[in-house]
Amino acid sequence: MEENKPYIGAIDQGTTSTRFFVFDRKATVVAMHQVEHRQMYPRPGWVEHDPVEILDNTRKSVRAVFDGAGISARSLAGLGITNQRETTVVWNRKTGRPYCNAIVWQDIRTDDLCRKMAVEGDMWCFKDRVGLPLSTYFSGPKIRWIIENVDGVKKAVESGEAVFGNMDTWLIWWLTGGPEKGVLATDVTNAGRTMLMNIRDLCWDETMLAAMGVTRSMLPEIRSSSEVYGYTDKDGVFGGEIPIAGDLGDQQAALFGQTCFRVGDAKNTYGTGCFLLLNTGEQPVYSNFGLLTTPAYKIGNSLAVYALEGSIAIAGSLVQWIRDNLGMIRSSGEIETIAREVPDNGGVYFVPAFSGLFAPHWQSDASGIIAGLTHYAKRGHLARSVLEACAFQAREIFEAMEKDSRVRLNELKVDGGMTENDLLMQFQADILDVPVIRPENMETTVLGAAYAAGLATGFWKDFSELETHWRKDRTWIPDMSKETRAALYEGWKKAIVKSCC
Ligand SMILES: Nc1ncnc2c1ncn2[C@@H]1O[C@H](COP(=O)(O)OP(=O)(O)OP(=O)(O)O)[C@@H](O)[C@H]1O
Ligand SMILES: [Mg+2]
Repeated sequence: MEENKPYIGAIDQGTTSTRFFVFDRKATVVAMHQVEHRQMYPRPGWVEHDPVEILDNTRKSVRAVFDGAGISARSLAGLGITNQRETTVVWNRKTGRPYCNAIVWQDIRTDDLCRKMAVEGDMWCFKDRVGLPLSTYFSGPKIRWIIENVDGVKKAVESGEAVFGNMDTWLIWWLTGGPEKGVLATDVTNAGRTMLMNIRDLCWDETMLAAMGVTRSMLPEIRSSSEVYGYTDKDGVFGGEIPIAGDLGDQQAALFGQTCFRVGDAKNTYGTGCFLLLNTGEQPVYSNFGLLTTPAYKIGNSLAVYALEGSIAIAGSLVQWIRDNLGMIRSSGEIETIAREVPDNGGVYFVPAFSGLFAPHWQSDASGIIAGLTHYAKRGHLARSVLEACAFQAREIFEAMEKDSRVRLNELKVDGGMTENDLLMQFQADILDVPVIRPENMETTVLGAAYAAGLATGFWKDFSELETHWRKDRTWIPDMSKETRAALYEGWKKAIVKSCC
């Protein structure tokens, strides 16, 4: 009986690394292993990952947890998967070999393609069908690019050998046995980021397939976020048959892991990028202020729940850029030490539009800028501007969210690696003028995937049981004058204008 097993497993296939976690019934982490993968930037604006390296890292993480913690397939009631969204893999279903590297969500090579597909130049022309603007961000244009530009793919699509998946589909297919046996499946939260799924009926949309030049036979089946998709191959890395029973894109998984189950519940995740999601219930709410309409989760046969999302492409990755490309710090945490050398930003603003600007601007041709430099500026000011950029971008989203949803957000639940940064979290509370709250379990993304798998296998009973696991860890209370807040935000808005021209 699955419900008698002590643990549940979950894979978090992220933008920078792959992690495997094991949780107990109280949602406490029992064991974890993490392996980073290479970021490839073959041309300006291009970002690629090697899907085979990611598959290997997944296996390495599972092996390390099994060997290190003495856990085996027999003790796992189920397995959940969460993944970096939109990143696109096209592979051969007979051999399992990808036709090219995965095109990562941050990659902007499809900019021209997106402009060409816009009806009368309107990037929001498909909003009613898919809830999204035409953008390099989503999978559909990336699939089209691969079909049109990679040798042999067009033919393989015609013969039915080429298949598409995001990282969830790629991993589920391999873990359930790969060539001949693998299950080709995805969930509504991932399919909802392709621009190919109809946001209302949650099926592949013929009009969108035609617009994007994508053939239906290459697509996975769209399933709910919480049900048994298949079993791990007993001859594979798990060495036994575990039901794979949860699948959510990473930001939706974080919303779920934060137990944002009610209309009006919101969370903001500060990782590679920064993503604010608001639960809007069983009806999609369409945005007039640059937000995305996206499925939040669908539990088995229940109706899907939707979210409004504000997506920020660059947050923690700017800290990594400061570390790796400028060598100003050795570890991400050090940015705070340097930022504390000065009391304020000294008029310096950093707009990190490295992949253009996402929400609420959707300006693919914006580029990164540092504004307000004078002789006075020191490295501390630059460090501050890096952290503040994240908080200012979140304020833009926060405002759009309130306008679109007409819900006043009285607090903000946060998670993700950057919430370790006390200076940023205090500044976030100051610039939003609402308390910022972090739960004890900061691993909400992978926890969301574990929850989905746990519900489907009977490991956890219902939402209220999951809610008992959420406990407040820290709260940051706003402590900034109205005048200072307004002046700082004014400076940011000026910098944004400069980055867009
Ligand atoms: N103390 C810190 N101050 C500022 N930034 C930090 C700090 N600690 C971590 N970060 C940043 O947070 C990010 C890592 O956070 P997290 O592990 O949540 O990322 P992630 O988005 O889940 O990763 P992935 O994209 O692989 O899923 C990195 O970009 C790192 O630079
Ligand atoms: Mg992540």
